[in-house]
Amino acid sequence: MSEMKKPVYKPNREFAASARIKNMCEYETLQAWATEDYEGFWGHFAKEKITWQTPFDTVMDESDFPFVKWFGGGRLNVSVQCIDRHLQTRKNKAAIIFEGDRGDKQTITYMELHNSVNRFANMLKNEFGVRKGDRVVIYMPMIPEAAYAMLACARLGAIHSIVFGGFSAEALRDRIADAQAKVVITADGAYRKNKPYMLKPVVDKALEGDTPVEKVCVVERNGEEIVWVEGRDVSYSDLIVKQSIHCEPEIMESEDPLFLLYTSGSTGKPKGVQHNSAGYILWAQMTMEWVFDVKESDIYWCTADVGWITGHTYIVYGPLAMGATTVMFEGVPTYPDAGRPWKMVEEYRINQFYTAPTAIRVLHKMGNDEPKKYDLSSLKVLGTVGEPIDPPAWKWYYEDVGNSKCAIVDTYWQTETGGHIVSPLPGATPIKPGCATFPLPGIMAEILDPKTGEKVEAGEGGYMCVTRPWPAMIRGVWGDEERFKKSYFGDVKKEGRAVYFTGDGAVYDEDGYITITGRTDDVINVSGHRMGTAEVEAAINKHEGVAEVAVVGKPHDLKGEGIFSYVIMKNDTVTGRNMELTKEINNIIKQEIGNIALCDDIVFVPGLPKTRSGKIMRRILRAIAKGEAITQDISTLEDPSVVEKIQNAVNT
Ligand code: PRX
Repeated sequence: MSEMKKPVYKPNREFAASARIKNMCEYETLQAWATEDYEGFWGHFAKEKITWQTPFDTVMDESDFPFVKWFGGGRLNVSVQCIDRHLQTRKNKAAIIFEGDRGDKQTITYMELHNSVNRFANMLKNEFGVRKGDRVVIYMPMIPEAAYAMLACARLGAIHSIVFGGFSAEALRDRIADAQAKVVITADGAYRKNKPYMLKPVVDKALEGDTPVEKVCVVERNGEEIVWVEGRDVSYSDLIVKQSIHCEPEIMESEDPLFLLYTSGSTGKPKGVQHNSAGYILWAQMTMEWVFDVKESDIYWCTADVGWITGHTYIVYGPLAMGATTVMFEGVPTYPDAGRPWKMVEEYRINQFYTAPTAIRVLHKMGNDEPKKYDLSSLKVLGTVGEPIDPPAWKWYYEDVGNSKCAIVDTYWQTETGGHIVSPLPGATPIKPGCATFPLPGIMAEILDPKTGEKVEAGEGGYMCVTRPWPAMIRGVWGDEERFKKSYFGDVKKEGRAVYFTGDGAVYDEDGYITITGRTDDVINVSGHRMGTAEVEAAINKHEGVAEVAVVGKPHDLKGEGIFSYVIMKNDTVTGRNMELTKEINNIIKQEIGNIALCDDIVFVPGLPKTRSGKIMRRILRAIAKGEAITQDISTLEDPSVVEKIQNAVNT
């Protein structure tokens, strides 16, 4: 291994003394317990953490692998786990602290949350006929009503599918159609940088033509004018006041679905990742406790959007399941200036702060000295998620934000894993910058050689896999069993048995620390969000002048990865850059997917590097995008001369 040895940061003793997992010895004991008695381990925590309506009688059933069932015979309701069971002891504790873009604030106690969620559930049931198993799409800004909507669905046993508010009408239409949702919950719009922006018109467009949607419930947030469709659209504020604050929770089986969340893969349209009730909520709660070590009086803030899995597990379900106070923020971290998050940390005395490396890079670049202006002494744990964190961002986060005393938890996980799977434990794990460190207790994560299925040696890259099913694991791809099996269990076998493959590459160092090296498939990680190259290519192909396209990721200073597209026009005289066409193509992407998929660079080329069987050699395209020399053998290409032509087009 030629890699330089990374520095190691020991846990802060003061915090470690009261941490839930205090040292590596305790970690190893837990992991040994799980290894030796897997079902005993999970059964113990499921019994301890979940308020069961009916206790489970089996822990895990993998007879129909990869369709695994957890906590068979158990019955519960996730909204009870997140709200009702706290009322005896935490009725007046803040459940949610909301801060709007323009600085408006609201504190919602557990009792108030209970009442709002019950009213919401009654509205869904009585006014829209929502029943157990129905799909409800939530297309909302970051306001408390988004959390009420999620928990109201959980209360009724309806399956929510949140679509991130930055997705376009087309993307929303596809997700609504795939889930066959009967209700959409949205808002007129919200605020960003002190200006109103709109959501309802996007919903209107998504529902044009044939749609399974019967009702659209509109929460008023910015009061801007919107179009009302008679008989379909209803005002939340009109209906909610009529509802009672008592709604009996639907008692669900452990494996009844809780939600769908669409995410990008390397091929085809986004997949509806399905998570079920008991296993998901158990792990959401356990990881909240272990990884963020949130104490009863702590204030915890995750800056994600509820439209992504991080918002599901670590703004709403995890914190509320453990009875914590969770901060919900509507705005952007750099408005009105790059001191906004630190001002909020000071004001609310935030103890755990969780964000994406992209946000850290932006805050660092735009406000290097901002943290110094505020009292950040309340901070204990600083988290990162979604992408690797680079050394300068890590150093600034650790030293300037955390005052060299906080644990930085680089949490590695995915939409499909439900919660963290590889992460440091604050108080226990000595940290190396940029390392997700070790699998969490109970998670049998290993880096395997894809050919032999054996664990790789230190320094040898391999595939990041999980060799045993775990409670919060994806339960299926909505409506497509084959895709589920093929997407996650087709690539790697250990001792002849298929194991879950994350799609990421990873490497152990000499101390067994795990570093995630990035996707092994055609998925790009833009600002910590997953984008399938196939999806972007499909959008670009809708431009009538485009003959062919190949999309790759290219390292980007702020976003981690940017989207780089090679396009062949039907009129192939266009080569190099072209502002007008770039604008046209990006407009189509905006319509088809949304701003998050806009290309950073589009180069018009005369051809693509294809093998004789017609496969595009993306590795060559990635290297050209980075400006790297082509070291690989190009003689197998159908037309090796195309490489130089593409390089010329990129460099013009
Ligand atoms: O490539 C990994 C990267 O993000 C992917 C998961 O994306 P998504 O399902 O959208 O969930 C994002 C939030 C959990 C992974 O396959 N990723 C996530 N966390 C890390 C990471 N890459 C490196 N380090 C991480 N800590």
